[in-house]
Amino acid sequence: MPVFPRLRLQPRTNLVVAATLLVFFLLTVWLDYRQQERFILEESIEKARLIAFQTIRTRDYLSAQLQAGNVTLDSDRVGLIPVLASNRIGVQVAGDTDYQIRQVSDRYRNPANAPDPFEQRTLQQFRRGAGDEYYQITGADAARSFRYLQAFRADQSCLECHGDPADAPQVIQELYPPETDRAYHYPLGEVIGAISIQIPMDRLQRQVLARVRNDALTTGGIYLALIFCLSLLTRATVLHPLALLGAAIGRINRSGTFVEKLPVERDDEIGELIEGFNGMVESLADKQKELTESEARFRILTETARDGIISFLPDGKIILFNQAASRLFGYSKMESLGMSIAELIHPDNRDLHEIGAEAYFRQHGQQLLKELQRFVGRRRDGSSFSLEVSLSRVETDEYSFYTAIMRKVDQE
Ligand code: HEC
Repeated sequence: MPVFPRLRLQPRTNLVVAATLLVFFLLTVWLDYRQQERFILEESIEKARLIAFQTIRTRDYLSAQLQAGNVTLDSDRVGLIPVLASNRIGVQVAGDTDYQIRQVSDRYRNPANAPDPFEQRTLQQFRRGAGDEYYQITGADAARSFRYLQAFRADQSCLECHGDPADAPQVIQELYPPETDRAYHYPLGEVIGAISIQIPMDRLQRQVLARVRNDALTTGGIYLALIFCLSLLTRATVLHPLALLGAAIGRINRSGTFVEKLPVERDDEIGELIEGFNGMVESLADKQKELTESEARFRILTETARDGIISFLPDGKIILFNQAASRLFGYSKMESLGMSIAELIHPDNRDLHEIGAEAYFRQHGQQLLKELQRFVGRRRDGSSFSLEVSLSRVETDEYSFYTAIMRKVDQE
């Protein structure tokens, strides 16, 4: 089935190529989008991990420094409690960006560290032993965000303030009285809480779109250049030679002479086509010449013959009338063409005139062909004369006609 049958080749190939490339383009963009989304997710995980490690390291470092410096915490130095400090730092960093960085626990000391439902669920998962790291994209539309949690498990150092209250520093006991505070009594290895990081998705989405747009512009540009080059190429290698060929054929058609020849500049398929065309033109020209010559010979032959020669179709219509016939019957060649052979035979011949030439030759044709016949001819001026006629018939698949060679006989 031809594609766009009403279009010319150039726009058609351009359209097909453009459509194909468009499909590829959309596919590439879509795949790129998916890939960029994956990249962004991976990058987000990396970032979240970095923040988590930094927080833990800050806490550990502060704790080591406090111990090394033998600093006793008192109510004026609560801000130096490593967990508290690292938590505050996180909150401040988050303030500089649109990230959320929190340390949460379901047995929180500070209500600001209370977990939201997602964090609550994840903490429970950690406790059930489902790894110490969890991330997910949550929410819908504008509220979509990337969320990351890493569990804090109680090690020996934590138990100082989260284990037996009796071991806790004075200031902790004062600030978080063991009777009401729920953050004591953690066993070793238990999940105390988690660092929770939240990155809004629209920010990530914007990054994805920006990258995809860049990639799409590059690919689109390349594809456009490709279409342009392809179109130039098809024009130069196929369409232009074809147009030349078409024009040459048109000229031959109009003039009827086979003189046109095209230069063969290449030896590819188009070159072969042109060569074939040239060959065809040449042999047609030869044939035409032969034909003209044989026609000329034939004309000379018939025109110079002394006998009248008349060819007519099976229905009697005259198609050839030579000079001798003209002299015999007194009709010019022009007058005779299209006349019926019956008009040249005397009305006395009832056989012929009653049933008409066509039926007459159908019935008597075979008989008439066998031997010389005698007819009474009738001239243009109505006078009659005796004729000796030898009839022959030419028969091909497509047509048949009779040729009568006639001579006037003098009445005995
Ligand atoms: C010097 C005492 C001290 C030590 C040691 C300590 N914490 Fe805490 N922890 C606190 C205090 C005080 C808070 C309350 C912070 C606030 O008000 O924001 C807290 C809060 C937390 C929170 C936030 C939830 C809440 O209760 O508000 C987590 C999680 C936490 N600690 C985990 C740990 C882990 C894990 C360790 C061991 C690596 C540890 N802590 C060691 C004193 C301590």
